[in-house]
Amino acid sequence: MSLSPAPLPIVQAGMPVLRQPMRTLSAVEILSPAIQQLIVRLRDTMHAAPGVGLAAPQVGEPLQLAVLEDRPEYLAGVAPELLAAIERTPTPFQVIINPRLTVTDPTPVSSFEGCLSVAGLAMLVPRARAVRVDCLNEHAEPVVIEARGWHARILQHEIDHLHGHLCIDRMEPRSLMTWTNQARYWRKKSLDEVRAGLGIPVSPAPDQC
Ligand code: CO
Repeated sequence: MSLSPAPLPIVQAGMPVLRQPMRTLSAVEILSPAIQQLIVRLRDTMHAAPGVGLAAPQVGEPLQLAVLEDRPEYLAGVAPELLAAIERTPTPFQVIINPRLTVTDPTPVSSFEGCLSVAGLAMLVPRARAVRVDCLNEHAEPVVIEARGWHARILQHEIDHLHGHLCIDRMEPRSLMTWTNQARYWRKKSLDEVRAGLGIPVSPAPDQC
């Protein structure tokens, strides 16, 4: 028997809360029972989905709060060469509150990505390779997170939510597809093969100077 309450409903694209500005939280608020309970329920809802990140607006709360975790079992079925290409390694549970994001390596890396608020769909999204996040944790303590690869991708995705942005705003439009078709036709292909198959031109080389 589980004493945990049921997962929270996750709102879908089109709900106004996903597109509005999210407000910051004070240290007193963070330590309040209401926010502490919200953090636990965000974690439980993310695990139940399952997902690797969940932001407060996705459960209808316009707050600068998100959780993330990339568990070893999620990586178990992924080819080692793909894990290496996207620099994906397990990431422990983290709570980010009032985050400020700084890109530390702007090299764009494209990978398939999805969102629990854009259910059933996958898309290629270019993200910066490495970032630094200055934020508060669940104890209202300042923390600095230095991240690269997939961890940096999750952080960029979740912090986008806290500014009313969704991954569909940043995707390569021709890449939008169902996860079912992603698995059926594209999962085992390299990024170059995916681009060629979808008719997405290779990014132009940066201007030489
Ligand atoms: Co999302």
